[in-house]
Amino acid sequence: MAESMQGMKRSHRCTEVSNKNIGETVTVMGWVQKRRNLGSLIFIDLRDRSGLLQIVFNEDAIGKEGYEKAGKLRSEYVVAVVGKVAKREAAVNENMATGDIEIIATELRILSESLTPPFPIEEGINTKEELRLKYRTLDLRRPDLQRNLMLRSKVTGLVHEFMSQEGFLEIETPFMTKSTPEGARDYLVPSRVHPGNFYALPQSPQLFKQMLMVSGYDRYYQIARCFRDEDLRADRQPEFTQIDMELAFVDVEDVLDVNERLLKKVFKEAIGVDVQLPIQRMTWKDAMENYGSDKPDTRFDMKLVNVTDVVKGCGFGVFTGAIENGGSVQGINAIGQGAMPRKKIDALVDFAKGYGAKGLAYLSVNEDGSYKSSFAKFMTEEELDNLVKAMNGHPGDLLLFAADKTKLVWNVLGALRLELAKKMDLIDENKFNFLWVTEFPLLEWSDEENRFMAMHHPFTMPMDEDWDKIDSDPGSVRAKAYDIVLNGVELGGGSVRIHQNDIQEKMFEVLGFNEGEAQEKFGFLLTAFKYGVPPHAGLAYGLDRMIMLMAHAESIRDVIAFPKVKDASCLLTNAPTPVEQSQLDELFLNATEVEVRAALKEEEQEQ
Ligand code: AMO
Ligand code: AMP
Repeated sequence: MAESMQGMKRSHRCTEVSNKNIGETVTVMGWVQKRRNLGSLIFIDLRDRSGLLQIVFNEDAIGKEGYEKAGKLRSEYVVAVVGKVAKREAAVNENMATGDIEIIATELRILSESLTPPFPIEEGINTKEELRLKYRTLDLRRPDLQRNLMLRSKVTGLVHEFMSQEGFLEIETPFMTKSTPEGARDYLVPSRVHPGNFYALPQSPQLFKQMLMVSGYDRYYQIARCFRDEDLRADRQPEFTQIDMELAFVDVEDVLDVNERLLKKVFKEAIGVDVQLPIQRMTWKDAMENYGSDKPDTRFDMKLVNVTDVVKGCGFGVFTGAIENGGSVQGINAIGQGAMPRKKIDALVDFAKGYGAKGLAYLSVNEDGSYKSSFAKFMTEEELDNLVKAMNGHPGDLLLFAADKTKLVWNVLGALRLELAKKMDLIDENKFNFLWVTEFPLLEWSDEENRFMAMHHPFTMPMDEDWDKIDSDPGSVRAKAYDIVLNGVELGGGSVRIHQNDIQEKMFEVLGFNEGEAQEKFGFLLTAFKYGVPPHAGLAYGLDRMIMLMAHAESIRDVIAFPKVKDASCLLTNAPTPVEQSQLDELFLNATEVEVRAALKEEEQEQ
């Protein structure tokens, strides 16, 4: 029994009806949240994306047939109701936006019936995510997801508004393109017309936005889909969205300034959060040394303390060994955790080992000032006192130490710091701590590739004052690169780009590309750069991450309408799926080289 809505027109969304409309006749349409029969009355809560509205059916108002129809309603039926807005006689519901009114129905149409949904269409259900994603259309009816997607739309609207006011042009760049150097694996699209050749889906619009600068579009932006074939995590998807921008004739300050104002507007108008300007800045070096991370969560303290000099020459071989190997010894003070039971400390040791640590040394300062420690027996009283003092340890504190190569120590203690903060409940979830991390290293040594790699990408401008060290000490050269971090999440990143040929060539040389390779990979950009390139810089935000943080969602999957799961599949459509043999044949995807060559030849002859 599915009726037509012919002759009816929706007059309001559910929560657009209010006590100001009392006495008026309205037409509302939506889904039945639930039905209750109360003697001679039938109630339903009607739901649409705005919220809930109570409808009352009584035989006097709607007639016998309409009343019987109302008795057949089930959850998730789609209905249209015409009725009179009335003040609620009883059971005013303060939790409902429309809790003081109800609609006395005079006409009911069942527009569509529904099977019983596999999970309740309600906020905060604890249904398995796999099931929710399989029935994503139903999941998306739930208020929390609807709020997230409405917030997302609000944010992109504000971004468009701001960028337009600031003179940015929205320009689209291609999806079917050539590999871009963002460092992840590409998704490839086979070409039918050019057998054996592939497009790559863009990992970001990076090269195109730089070419737009060469073309004179001095402020570009785009809310752009990006594709990266990398291992998924809670804050990573194979396709995700960037708010991407590039500006010409600018330096670092200009980019940070316009972005601070963008963030201020968006956070204020979307969620009422005041972003204090200027946003705090921290160099990459300070971030690593104090927080062990290039995306520090500054909502709590618990900084790393480098005690290498304090324990140098002590009797504990784990410490001195690490130092002799060119590493360091660093610690964190878990204030007030001195009484942590052994079992929990062991769990922390295992946690540290999960990040590559060989162990985690600990010392708790007892209330009487004595120590309990995994390494006290290797040190003199004086050495221990000095160490505790350096850590600002007091009775009741738990000190945790890692000794290894400094990069590993940072990684371990950076992660441990976050783990402890969660356990100790140190994080104020209502805080929005923004942070610029600046002066990233230009290069990063890769043991795997046995060469330097670009930390951001190969077009990132080195800092002027460091460039003369590019041959003698490449690892120490800093870049004009910056990340915007929010509550310990990398929200976005960007850099000033190289616009001088000689610097770019040197960069390729340091990265180990010979001229042929550079030409093959980026020749089109290098050629463009020969015809007058303005100094330029830009930045891109991960929109999904931004919305996740704004909505306090646990995963970016909760702010993307149709996300993929860990193995990059879509549980709703089952993509990726096998395709017809004929489609493969057309693309020469399982053709031998001989067949491809023959096809190419045939094509040539036809031309
Ligand atoms: P970058 O690679 O740092 O920079 O990406 C910018 C931001 O995009 C988000 N992000 C992701 N979000 C979800 N899933 C992913 N798999 C994913 N990967 C990245 C992050 C990140 O900070 N072209 C440069 C920007 C520039 O230099 O202008 C770029 O893409 O929030
Ligand atoms: P061991 O001498 O191996 O029994 O280790 C003594 C203590 O030092 C134990 O608490 C270990 O967890 C810890 N430990 C071992 N290796 C390291 C390391 N690289 N950094 C910090 N602590 C360590």
